[in-house]
Amino acid sequence: MKVAVVGTGYVGLVSGTCFAETGNTVICVDNNPQKVESLKKGKMTIYEPGLDVLFDRNTKEGRLTFTTSLEEGIKDAEVIFLALPTPPGEDGSADLKYILGVADDLGKTMKKYAVIVDKSTVPVGTSEKVRAAIAANATVEFDVVSNPEFLREGVAVDDFMKPDRVVVGTESERAQEIMKRLYAPLVRQGNPVIFMDERSAEMTKYAANSFLAMKITFMNEIANLCERAGADVDNVRKGIGTDSRIGKRFLFPGIGYGGSCFPKDVQALGKTAAEYNYDFKILKSVMKVNDKQKTKMMPLVKDYFDGELKGKTIAIWGLAFKPHTDDIREAPALYNIKSLRRAGAKVVVFDPEAMDNIKKEIGRKVKYAKSMYEAIEGADALMIMTEWPEFRSPDFEKIGAALKNKVIFDGRNLYDLSNMENKGFTYYSIGRKVVNA
Ligand code: UDX
Repeated sequence: MKVAVVGTGYVGLVSGTCFAETGNTVICVDNNPQKVESLKKGKMTIYEPGLDVLFDRNTKEGRLTFTTSLEEGIKDAEVIFLALPTPPGEDGSADLKYILGVADDLGKTMKKYAVIVDKSTVPVGTSEKVRAAIAANATVEFDVVSNPEFLREGVAVDDFMKPDRVVVGTESERAQEIMKRLYAPLVRQGNPVIFMDERSAEMTKYAANSFLAMKITFMNEIANLCERAGADVDNVRKGIGTDSRIGKRFLFPGIGYGGSCFPKDVQALGKTAAEYNYDFKILKSVMKVNDKQKTKMMPLVKDYFDGELKGKTIAIWGLAFKPHTDDIREAPALYNIKSLRRAGAKVVVFDPEAMDNIKKEIGRKVKYAKSMYEAIEGADALMIMTEWPEFRSPDFEKIGAALKNKVIFDGRNLYDLSNMENKGFTYYSIGRKVVNA
């Protein structure tokens, strides 16, 4: 099939590349000339494990091309994906200016029937607005479909190529047929393409992300309570996760969720609720608790150094909001770096992928180490913010020798308590007892 993808951000580039991989001819459109230039030269503009191989293959075979011209991009397309940003506006609701801007242009440029697919996370009712914006100028027939994307950063290719389900919101049979054909290679294992009305599809995406954010937040609160009550959240997690009604995934407590989706989507759903005069109390709590969770380690660090961080050097392992990505949006590490600096501490950081992004964000306010061990050399303490695999089984002797104090503040529960006890580390983690306090 001939597919156009408008917007080559994270979702756009992954979708475009994966649709090319399944044999379609894909043209990606972006109004940023530098981005398009770079993509045309074969240089990927995001970091995502495994995507580079697919990207190289499909660009070389000519199935995946790039342009800045919307007109050229959509000329032959049967399906036009909109994968544009929906940043939170000042009031927290999703800002639709990019999507509606392109919809307006589409109306003016479309020369034949196409299915316009909302891939971006958009509030309930957006499809209707997109339809109206296109219809204002359109001279041809078209359908608008809501098709939310559930991929996770870091495992995006796998999530896209083998989705648990595909949600498609449209009541047009013509559009349903086209979407069914497009997704057929991705659901061969029998996973469903679920058709529904547009509003439900739009709501599904927010409900899924908000539910997962709530699940994590619930565990963070259980962890905080475990600390007070002398229970171990790891045991509790295993104890409840084996109940198939609860499920094992997304039960890992930590220093709060981050990223480009959960914080934004929880806030946006709250905003939708407010618009419909519904007081969505759980969502409000989720946001509040998560903000608080990000601040959790700071008082412990301060207490350890008797309230004085001036002159201390704190090493941080992990800056990305989660492993296998260079994304630092809403990352708990950002909050902690700022707080440490405000308290007068020097900060040395290391992350396997996110160093460039953090440099852009905070410049020379911190020191950048070339390796995880260089970061801790001569530091007064180590804080862990992201569970990168390479931090999971480090050389503890090396850590003990490099740090001035054998103390670790672990926001991701990477280490076994008895191991840390035996090795003589003072070890703070989440929802478990403090070791060698
Ligand atoms: C999320 C959704 O999972 C995905 O379906 C949607 O399309 C986009 O938003 P993503 O933001 O890439 O994906 O990351 P995800 O793996 O879901 O993690 C989100 C945050 O939750 C991270 O900060 C992560 O550290 C945190 N998390 C996740 C936990 O704290 N505990 C867990 O058990 C799981």
